[in-house]
Amino acid sequence: MDNGYAVEVENLTVKYGEEIALEDVSFKLEHPSFLTIIGPNGSGKTTLLKSILGLIKPEKGSIKVFGINVLENATKARHMIGYVPQRERISTNVPIRVSDIVLMGRLARYGPLTVPSKHDMKKVKEALELVGMIDFWDKKFSNLSGGQQQRVLIARALAVEPKMLLLDEPFSAVDIPTQREILNILFNLRMRENITVVLVTHDVNPVIECSDKIMILNKKLIAYGKPNDVIKDEVLLKAYGAAVKIIAHEGICYVLSGDTHA
Ligand SMILES: Nc1ncnc2c1ncn2[C@@H]1O[C@H](COP(=O)(O)OP(=O)(O)OP(=O)(O)O)[C@@H](O)[C@H]1O
Ligand SMILES: [Mg+2]
Repeated sequence: MDNGYAVEVENLTVKYGEEIALEDVSFKLEHPSFLTIIGPNGSGKTTLLKSILGLIKPEKGSIKVFGINVLENATKARHMIGYVPQRERISTNVPIRVSDIVLMGRLARYGPLTVPSKHDMKKVKEALELVGMIDFWDKKFSNLSGGQQQRVLIARALAVEPKMLLLDEPFSAVDIPTQREILNILFNLRMRENITVVLVTHDVNPVIECSDKIMILNKKLIAYGKPNDVIKDEVLLKAYGAAVKIIAHEGICYVLSGDTHA
């Protein structure tokens, strides 16, 4: 049953063939909250999100989403979740309108050939309003900037009216001011709409202040907790090796990551 946790993961181990992607990961995430997940390339971040979505069958362990056992009832659990996958590309040659992209996200849960109702259209409109893209309703998706496209993809994930939003590196193709705008949108979703936000990112600096919890992953759970308890030299060294520096400024720790990510 729903017991106040958005996610409960216990002893999760995931393998691809012989390769271990996640090893004995356990954590609980309260609802609503803002969780930021960081970790080097190949550390299992995307694998963890996909496991929460029930898209990957773990080797062992259990995953609950709002009290629902994902392994037994993936569809029901997935209906609670909006997902913005890593580096998604929608073909630029296909002239799809912004509103259709968002509508497709909503209708995907009903299956093919569903005729949208007035209620569906209202939800699409609300989702685009939440990300500040309602004026782009009729525009072609392919003509938008990277940041605008990212906001539309967030709207598409929101159109299913999720209780939790999972975002896999939504900042990888956007400039810093746009990153700020998107972060503001996500923070407002958590504060005003009571949506739990789980964000995978490479640069933890801009998100520290927004985050209730930070997770450092490197196949194992290296650290999990409140930002100032997690963002410490010894913890980061364990996760990243020497390529990371921390500076503390007015009580807030900043991480300078030497990790480069394409
Ligand atoms: N479909 C797959 N088949 C085989 N191995 C995979 C598959 N997906 C991921 N892996 C491997 O599992 C490990 C974890 O991958 P994952 O994509 O979860 O890492 P990540 O932390 O998201 O990395 P990045 O920062 O590059 O996005 C990597 O070593 C990767 O090569
Ligand atoms: Mg990834």
